[in-house]
Amino acid sequence: MRRLTIIFVFSFVLIACSAAPDPDALVTRGAYLVNGIVACGNCHTPRNADATAVEDMRLAGGFLIEEPAFRAYAPNITQDIETGIGSWSDEEIIRAIREGVRPDGTIIGPPMPIPSYRGMSDSDVRAIVAYLRTVAPVRNVVSRTVYNIPLPESWGPPLGTVADVSRDDSLAYGTYFGNALGHCMECHTPMSEGAFDFSRTGAGGFVLHKPFGLELAAVAANITPHPEQGIGEWTDDEIKRAITQGISSDGRKLAPIMAFDYYQNISEEDLDALIVYLRSLPPQPPE
Ligand code: HEC
Ligand code: HEC
Repeated sequence: MRRLTIIFVFSFVLIACSAAPDPDALVTRGAYLVNGIVACGNCHTPRNADATAVEDMRLAGGFLIEEPAFRAYAPNITQDIETGIGSWSDEEIIRAIREGVRPDGTIIGPPMPIPSYRGMSDSDVRAIVAYLRTVAPVRNVVSRTVYNIPLPESWGPPLGTVADVSRDDSLAYGTYFGNALGHCMECHTPMSEGAFDFSRTGAGGFVLHKPFGLELAAVAANITPHPEQGIGEWTDDEIKRAITQGISSDGRKLAPIMAFDYYQNISEEDLDALIVYLRSLPPQPPE
């Protein structure tokens, strides 16, 4: 009996060490990320006038995001061969997401959040691609973006491998979760001379002129722990409610810019890590 147990344990360890990532687990993780914190569909799924997603057009693109710097059309990222990314290899899609380079070598511009996505771990970006493969192909030809600003030649040197961040360290994981996966700080950090001013991370102030084709303008909030200007006095539950339901601490409904419909699927554990990160930021007064 004892011997049998040892053999059993031994073979289990062997299987655990040699097995490639379980494809189902990869798709499950990818679905959790894409339908939650990463929220690709917040840009890549077209919306109706009331900001709800257009049914049957999930990730099919065509959505106009208009700012003084660009008229950007989020492309079709379904598996359609001709009008989507169905013919791209896994490596090509990974390079597009993390490095902003298409298979033909052209550069992908803002507001696709490449500076944040460069931090995505290999296993998370693979999970996202595995999930994208399961999304129904939709035929939809999308117009090309017009930029009024020069695009960078590249978003940085080739990436190589990016390691996972351990969940055991809430601050490190929350930082990874909010930035590399959630790109929270690409909206909530002010820009100075065309670049993010990371000395004021989370200070807000960034004006979205015609976000997501919606006829409204909104200013990204200060989400540092500053007691008056930021969210320093908010309880954890108030912060969670703002992120997942779009309701501010005073009960005001937030403009439908953040991906509330997706963020509501974030697990409690991951929200807790995100809050640990937000509370760690240096409090920023307004400029
Ligand atoms: C904040 C909005 C936004 C988010 C979030 C976003 N994208 Fe994009 N994405 C864009 C825009 C806009 C473009 C086109 C930029 C251009 O025209 O150069 C783009 C381009 C792309 C492309 C290139 C497609 C092509 O045919 O050229 C891929 C692939 C892509 N995104 C995948 C993703 C995935 C996967 C996610 C989630 C992990 C994601 N994007 C999240 C806005 C976004
Ligand atoms: C696409 C840009 C964008 C992204 C990405 C984004 N936010 Fe926001 N956020 C905003 C804007 C704009 C507001 C203010 C909306 C309003 O005032 O109606 C806001 C408001 C908030 C508020 C409420 C603050 C207040 O005083 O009411 C919190 C908290 C918040 N965001 C946290 C986050 C977190 C955490 C993330 C990442 C998971 C995130 N945001 C991602 C644009 C964004």
